[in-house]
Amino acid sequence: MLKQYTVAVVAALLTGAAAQTYSDCNPTNETDCSNDAALSSTYSYDFTDGEDSENWSSTASTDVEYTTKGAEFIITEQGDAPTLQSEWYIFFGRVEVHMKASSGTGIVSSVVLLSDDLDELDWEFLGGDADEVQTIYFGQGNSTSTDREVDVAVDDAQSTSHNYTLYWTETSCVWYLDGTAVRTLNYADADNGNQYPQTPMRVKLGSWAGGDSDNSEGTITWAGGETDYDDGPFTMTVESIEVTNFNPGASYTYSDQTGDMDSIVVNDSDDDSSSTSTGSSTKASTKTSTKTSASGTASATYISTAVSSAASAVVSSAGATETPGATDSASNSSGTTPTSSSIAVVTSTTTGIGAMMAPSTWMIIGAVTVAILGHL
Ligand SMILES: *[C@@H]1O[C@H](CO)[C@@H](O)[C@H](O)[C@H]1NC(C)=O
Ligand SMILES: *[C@@H]1O[C@H](CO)[C@@H](O)[C@H](O)[C@H]1NC(C)=O
Ligand SMILES: *[C@@H]1O[C@H](CO)[C@@H](O)[C@H](O)[C@H]1NC(C)=O
Ligand SMILES: *[C@@H]1O[C@H](CO)[C@@H](O)[C@H](O)[C@H]1NC(C)=O
Ligand SMILES: *[C@@H]1O[C@H](CO)[C@@H](O)[C@H](O)[C@H]1NC(C)=O
Ligand SMILES: *[C@@H]1O[C@H](CO)[C@@H](O)[C@H](O)[C@H]1NC(C)=O
Repeated sequence: MLKQYTVAVVAALLTGAAAQTYSDCNPTNETDCSNDAALSSTYSYDFTDGEDSENWSSTASTDVEYTTKGAEFIITEQGDAPTLQSEWYIFFGRVEVHMKASSGTGIVSSVVLLSDDLDELDWEFLGGDADEVQTIYFGQGNSTSTDREVDVAVDDAQSTSHNYTLYWTETSCVWYLDGTAVRTLNYADADNGNQYPQTPMRVKLGSWAGGDSDNSEGTITWAGGETDYDDGPFTMTVESIEVTNFNPGASYTYSDQTGDMDSIVVNDSDDDSSSTSTGSSTKASTKTSTKTSASGTASATYISTAVSSAASAVVSSAGATETPGATDSASNSSGTTPTSSSIAVVTSTTTGIGAMMAPSTWMIIGAVTVAILGHL
């Protein structure tokens, strides 16, 4: 079956996208941050059942509303920014969200994984364009680079519910849209891992007005223009979510200020006297598998051998059976899905609209819009 995806590579400084991220205590910069509570294995929730205040907190003054449609993130006036964040963190894992994005020029709907030191993995939707979703990553909040965002075509994200799944391991992160891998970020392709998201992440769901007239001109431009609240209310609806933590435990601690995955201590028990495992001991095989991944052979090996059985179960279901074409991208950087390295080629070789045909089932049309945010 021939699948076609339009992938626009936006070569721009992403300060607009990064603007909403912050951390109460950044462990690469402060020494007394508290532990991060860890999700124990899998969390699954249907928001049409109402609020789950045990697992989510609202981080803005704007309440999220719960209706028969799901969790509704509604913007009616300036200052509204309904946001939920998970009470727990995952240290590599899988996040499946079924949702509809908000309409409205300048309104940004987002599904964000964010760590205390600002590693970040995103799905972002601009209200002015229902047919596109942005996939974005950042390492330690570093937004200086031009290759973090890849835009993916989606069929009416505002009135149709889609399945947005992130599959994040030590060696790669794959964005799946309705079961098809639309972007793969390999560890090595993120500045040799230096910019690879690799620390425990919370899940954040929310909507905000990037196009608010009080924002910087750059942010408003990135968001697609100035928001007119008279056109509202603008509603993002999350129907359900399923999250699996590949390194479950009681909590995570940063043992130093590197922000490196090896520095993360997994505290296995609520008991103070319990044994803890450090990133470096549990991840003894990580370096090896990372190198393996960089040279193009199977990178999923580590997951199925060294992480929890929950993780390997997910590998086999998400990779092999349900997502044709996904196995190769998740486990093999020489596959034919659009990897970040193939995207980078588009970026560096085209100046306007460029087209590149992948060897088999993929067609990538790279539209490089260098100028969009050039003034940021
Ligand atoms: C680090 O901490 C200092 C002092 O609190 C602060 O001024 C600076 O902005 C912080 N840097 C980062 C990257 O968080
Ligand atoms: C919160 O998540 C945990 C772990 O999945 C689950 O056991 C618990 O029931 C959830 N709380 C609510 C209110 O659903
Ligand atoms: C959503 O997509 C993921 C990734 O392909 C897949 O594993 C999962 O089964 C899908 N969910 C549904 C309900 O189809
Ligand atoms: C930010 O990312 C760029 C591009 O990957 C890299 O060259 C630079 O060293 C990074 N900055 C820091 C402070 O890590
Ligand atoms: C493990 O986590 C529990 C609960 O957060 C905490 O009370 C305990 O101090 C932690 N133990 C270590 C060794 O960090
Ligand atoms: C990698 O992917 C290519 C293309 O799909 C395939 O021919 C090759 O066997 C795969 N290699 C591994 C180690 O999975």
